[in-house]
Amino acid sequence: METKKILADCLDKDTTKILDLGAGTGLELIHLFELYPNASVTVIDISENMLKELSKRDFANRVTTICGDFFEIDFGNNYDAVISKSALHHFKPEEKRILYKKIFDCLKSGGLFLNCDKISLSQEEQDYSIYELENNVDNYKHIDTPLTVENEISILEQVGFINISTSKVDKNDYSLIKTRKGK
Ligand SMILES: C[S@@+](CC[C@H](N)C(=O)[O-])C[C@H]1O[C@@H](n2cnc3c(N)ncnc32)[C@H](O)[C@@H]1O
Repeated sequence: METKKILADCLDKDTTKILDLGAGTGLELIHLFELYPNASVTVIDISENMLKELSKRDFANRVTTICGDFFEIDFGNNYDAVISKSALHHFKPEEKRILYKKIFDCLKSGGLFLNCDKISLSQEEQDYSIYELENNVDNYKHIDTPLTVENEISILEQVGFINISTSKVDKNDYSLIKTRKGK
């Protein structure tokens, strides 16, 4: 399944209020608004340029955009779902814990968190990318630090998520993680 469609295809049928973390130009929202034309979507993204592109889309008037850092912006609350695609793979485990707790807290009971993103295929691979990041003294290159699926699951469990399932999508090092806040 195409990664840009997978998030919308996995939403609960009665979903209306959605938070998209790092929607960028809004690629994954094209299919989402096809399936859920009445959805109310809030997007948080740090890039003004990406949000400018998103604002040109024909569904832009149905999206509230907030330009800022996930770690600084208040997420709001009572979302049916939080979705994210290709946007959370450069945070270290301790940062992910903070982020996933914020996601947990902004969901309504029973709410869904869907994250389609890059993963590390082994602990060694994860450790190496974090080592590279920490030793990238002059910030001369962009380094992704995806976690393994096992570490993703462990952090999600620590913050209280339940019913965690993962599946490989598209490329070998991409996965869809689907989980819920309990009722
Ligand atoms: C690779 S793009 C993915 C865009 C879109 N979801 C897609 O799949 O086409 C990652 C997006 O996450 C945003 N982003 C990365 N780190 C962020 C942060 N700390 N706070 C807010 N947005 C962030 C970037 O600005 C970028 O638009």
